[in-house]
Amino acid sequence: MIVFYFSGTGNSRFVAETFCRAADAACCSIEDSANFNALIAAHETVGFCYPIYGSCVARPMREFVRAHTAALEGKRFVILCTQLIFSGDGAHALCAELPGGEKNVIYAEHVCMPNNVCNFPLFRVTNGAENARKLRAAERKTIRAAQDVLRGVVRRRGFNPASVLMGKSQSAFWPAVERTAAGDVKIDADCIRCGKCVRLCPTKNLTMGENGVEQAGRCAVCYRCVNACPKQAITVMFHRKPKKQYQGVSGKELT
Ligand SMILES: Cc1cc2nc3c(=O)[nH]c(=O)nc-3n(C[C@H](O)[C@H](O)[C@H](O)COP(=O)(O)O)c2cc1C
Repeated sequence: MIVFYFSGTGNSRFVAETFCRAADAACCSIEDSANFNALIAAHETVGFCYPIYGSCVARPMREFVRAHTAALEGKRFVILCTQLIFSGDGAHALCAELPGGEKNVIYAEHVCMPNNVCNFPLFRVTNGAENARKLRAAERKTIRAAQDVLRGVVRRRGFNPASVLMGKSQSAFWPAVERTAAGDVKIDADCIRCGKCVRLCPTKNLTMGENGVEQAGRCAVCYRCVNACPKQAITVMFHRKPKKQYQGVSGKELT
């Protein structure tokens, strides 16, 4: 088994790596430069781990699956989706991209993780010891998922009609938000042009121009740059300067 993950701020990476350790599976970031088709061909079961945004699959993961549809034909799938509180059908949402739809999904699970939307007043940002309990629960759930998959237990969280309906209450609005946000990165006057956001951006949306950071309309709203900027000068989606940034599971992810 191999698990491909996309992780904006490290949560999904933590879940993917924990799962792979427990299942003795290979683990691969979709941001790596690897021969993904060859990796897929070498495994019967392919896993995906990603954050959900508005009950939808993070765009980089959707694009990854679309780009490798032919190679994924005939595989069995495991889906691990990370969320702050609720997605309804965040794992099920990937089925729209998978060859065979939900038919070949043998396991799907939602894992709650710390908040990374650091500039939305309703959700508090927590770091370090404050996250210990949540992370322990996430680890336990992820290890149980790995053990289930190894034992052939089938569980498909979020696949029932009620979950799909609850997911729709958010996902119906997300495509429009995602389209607008793609070209709406804002940099304020505190930017020191250190280039960290440019270096970290997973979609190569940001470049350093003569007048500072420029965008190419490809923002995936992963919040990596918003949490990593040493001057809190960059915002996406909500244009409110973050007071406190998410530092990732280990506290070092975004340095
Ligand atoms: C743009 C955006 C939208 C999000 N929407 C939701 C949501 O609808 N429900 C939820 O529970 N968490 C939501 N989250 C929280 C993330 O899914 C969660 O923190 C995830 O574990 C982050 O994973 P990562 O660190 O791998 O990027 C959202 C995060 C972002 C950045």
